[in-house]
Amino acid sequence: GEFITVKEFADKLGKPVAEVIKALIFTGIMAGINQEIDFETAEKAAKRLEIDIVKSKDDASGISDEKEEDLLDVNLEKRPPIVTVMGHVDHGKTSLLDAIRKAKVTESEAGGITQHIGAYTITINGEKITFLDTPGHEAFTAMRARGAQVTDIVILVVAADDGIMPQTAEAINHCKAANVPMIVAINKIDVEGANIDKVKQELTEYGLVAEEWGGDTICVPVSAKQRMGIDDLLEMVLLTAEVEELKADSNRRAAGTVIESELDKGRGPVATLLVQKGTLNVGDSILVGSTYGRIRAMFDDKGKKIKSAGPSIPVEILGLSEVPQAGDKFHEVKDEKTARGMAEARKIKEKSLQQSTMRVSLEDLYSQVK
Ligand code: GTP
Ligand code: MG
Repeated sequence: GEFITVKEFADKLGKPVAEVIKALIFTGIMAGINQEIDFETAEKAAKRLEIDIVKSKDDASGISDEKEEDLLDVNLEKRPPIVTVMGHVDHGKTSLLDAIRKAKVTESEAGGITQHIGAYTITINGEKITFLDTPGHEAFTAMRARGAQVTDIVILVVAADDGIMPQTAEAINHCKAANVPMIVAINKIDVEGANIDKVKQELTEYGLVAEEWGGDTICVPVSAKQRMGIDDLLEMVLLTAEVEELKADSNRRAAGTVIESELDKGRGPVATLLVQKGTLNVGDSILVGSTYGRIRAMFDDKGKKIKSAGPSIPVEILGLSEVPQAGDKFHEVKDEKTARGMAEARKIKEKSLQQSTMRVSLEDLYSQVK
């Protein structure tokens, strides 16, 4: 479900209730032991306690007609895999994607550090693959967690001269939690001091045993810089995707997830959406979290204007009334009026939930924490 009581939440975290209540107060929520809190609130409190939590994959979006729509997923067709690249800071995630795309994103990044999720689709032998880049810096845990939620496959990048580091371990945990297949790219094999076997050894400490050592973890040695091993890696990605039998109905109303968003001075709210079901078209009306809009313009990952996008394709869109939050789900609805009505209803629901949390809990709080 969408809500959890403070007590259940504390139990899940393995923390004393009083500590969780304190963390909630610090994030501005007065909640008692039996108070129900939503995921966003829980996430803030968990962050305060330095614990990462991840929303379950099939989380209900709260749209009443969504269940019915899901039944309409009848014409299932093969769709491109969504592959997220994860790993410790500076281990070469963006460089690897640059090598795959034959582009140079790394050079344009501030301080060489990725601060957002980049989304790209490439075509190999007529097969599309969508890649999401994620930041390795420790500050971006929530972004990595989001990446792990929408992805079909993870490429875990481990620098062969550095081995498994804290954010490598974090990424492994995200994959396990989301139950996503993982391919390990052992990168920087061109560097002096690179030790492929040492990386494989360290992986075993996380229960990941390389195929060549009798396990089932695919490890591909690569050099993003020298562009070595890239074809092998892509072959493994396509093979894994084949096994997963990824399918979607492209003939239904579009639905998917906000990858990133911003307020552009000239263009207004801009959002990068990953279409997961159906086809999104210019002119469609969508509900996104508690905002909405009618798509005025749509661009592909190369900034080219496009008119429609099917499953697994990332697009940038204009036309939303407000900036949505990364991680928000979006759904196409009948028309803009419907979208606005549903967005307003959600806003009212959110507000009243916040208020009832404030009211009930003050007494609750004093009776519980003493
Ligand atoms: P964050 O996004 O900040 O987490 O970093 P990242 O994992 O995307 O690393 P990035 O691709 O920015 O690369 C970090 C540094 O490692 C850069 O200076 C790259 O040139 C270098 N690098 C990446 N791959 C290789 C490689 O295969 N060999 C060598 N020698 N250097 C590499
Ligand atoms: Mg990067």
